[in-house]
Amino acid sequence: MSTVTAAQAAYVVAALLFILSLAGLSQHRTSRSGVVWGIAGMVVALAATIGLASESITVTGLALIVVATAVGAGIGLWRARVVEMTGMPELIAIMHSLVGLAAAFVGWNGYLDVDAELSGSLLGIHHAEVFIGVFIGAVTFTGSVVAYLKLSARIDSRPLTLPGKHVLNVGALVAFAGLTVAFVARPNIGLLIAVTVIALALGAHLVASIGGGDMPVVVSMLNSYSGWAAAASGFLLSNNLLIVTGALVGSSGAYLSYIMCKAMNRSFISVIAGGFGTPAAAADEGEQGEHREISAEETAELLRDASSVIITPGYGMAVAQAQYPVAELARKLRERGVEVRFGIHPVAGRLPGHMNVLLAEANVPYDIVLEMDEINDDFAATSVVLVIGANDTVNPAATDNPASPIAGMPVLHVWEAADVVVFKRSMAAGYAGVQNPLFFRENSQMLFGDAKQRVEDILRALDSLDAPVPEMAGSSR
Ligand code: TAP
Repeated sequence: MSTVTAAQAAYVVAALLFILSLAGLSQHRTSRSGVVWGIAGMVVALAATIGLASESITVTGLALIVVATAVGAGIGLWRARVVEMTGMPELIAIMHSLVGLAAAFVGWNGYLDVDAELSGSLLGIHHAEVFIGVFIGAVTFTGSVVAYLKLSARIDSRPLTLPGKHVLNVGALVAFAGLTVAFVARPNIGLLIAVTVIALALGAHLVASIGGGDMPVVVSMLNSYSGWAAAASGFLLSNNLLIVTGALVGSSGAYLSYIMCKAMNRSFISVIAGGFGTPAAAADEGEQGEHREISAEETAELLRDASSVIITPGYGMAVAQAQYPVAELARKLRERGVEVRFGIHPVAGRLPGHMNVLLAEANVPYDIVLEMDEINDDFAATSVVLVIGANDTVNPAATDNPASPIAGMPVLHVWEAADVVVFKRSMAAGYAGVQNPLFFRENSQMLFGDAKQRVEDILRALDSLDAPVPEMAGSSR
């Protein structure tokens, strides 16, 4: 069997492994095996590609590929080991920017190094691929860089509202279409420079126009763009695996964006068109009333007397790394006969599935971890809700106040429970920058401090409530 045939066969195996990986990642139980399938697919793909390249390049070229692979793998391993779970979206955004940059470079290379055998309509198709690849790659590159800067709070997360911003976006798309036709007819470097500049500006503008609250959708949308950018590179390089993998990433990213838009009651088209995000209407957010505080000991008493408890975790649980004591608290309460469940909002935390990953890490049984839609009707019949570091995802203003910037976003109806205890460090707003009327409701109490420390305090208090109290002669309860 020739190297080329072996490589093509290996590509088919790798593509199947990637499909298995996606299937595995779609469920908690199988997500670990999904990661393993993905790693296996990537190893097969890399080995086949290097083997294929070794057929036609010099020893120096091969050595360069091996060194680049080793350096890339080293950086990847190092970043994956040191990144905090809360820093994942930033890492993902910056990785997407590299995919975009690579696609733009592949496009430029395709222009500078045209296969001499191409002619006629095939040459036209090649030039169209170059142009489209550079465009998608450059949009993905700057869009991802701006997303990284917003997510890491290096720039303001509020939407940029330039006058006539939609005209600018549509104008850029029309210019791209016109320039593509011109480039296919008469390829020249000036047009390629023009489309690169337009695409770089469009990517930055699209993401800058999107408000912080819509960033989850942006991250998955950029994931999708990076897939299409890779597929475009696949066409240019005549690499079937890159085409298949790019299409898998592109379509799964687009579908994830759609699911997240549905979860947040956002219009998919409006978000990807750059700027559903409404400027924060902070005007009516002054005084909300009085809030009440509760201590860890009082919370322990509340929990001791509860028959059912729902825990709704959010970003603060991740920051505090409180998942281990939270899992311990759930275990203890269940041992006492309390019904304990977790209610997970689709965009709680900072990345899809963030809370599920943390709870799985702490060995919380899957069957007590429920999605928002599965648990939302049960709050009214619940004794105590523990809101652990969640804020936007439990904000009643989303349902009650049409003027709120998060109006219409489905939220967990925690306020319907008999008692709500909110764990956070201050009265500060959540990610969307919106004050939360939940904190001022009559049945809500604030437990201030680091979530991990407060949950540990509750565990200690529960233990001391359990400690045998010397029987008083003649006393009865
Ligand atoms: P957020 O609205 O982000 O609020 C988190 C709360 O945790 C804050 O109010 C903060 O209050 C508290 N907190 C922070 N550190 C804490 C600690 N050590 N101990 C206790 N509390 C702590 O959380 P959420 O309800 O999970 O909502 C997620 C938000 O992020 C949504 O707006 C969503 O759209 C957005 N977002 C989500 C994603 C994805 S895909 N999940 C991606 C990007 C953005 P204090 O500062 O007062 O402690």
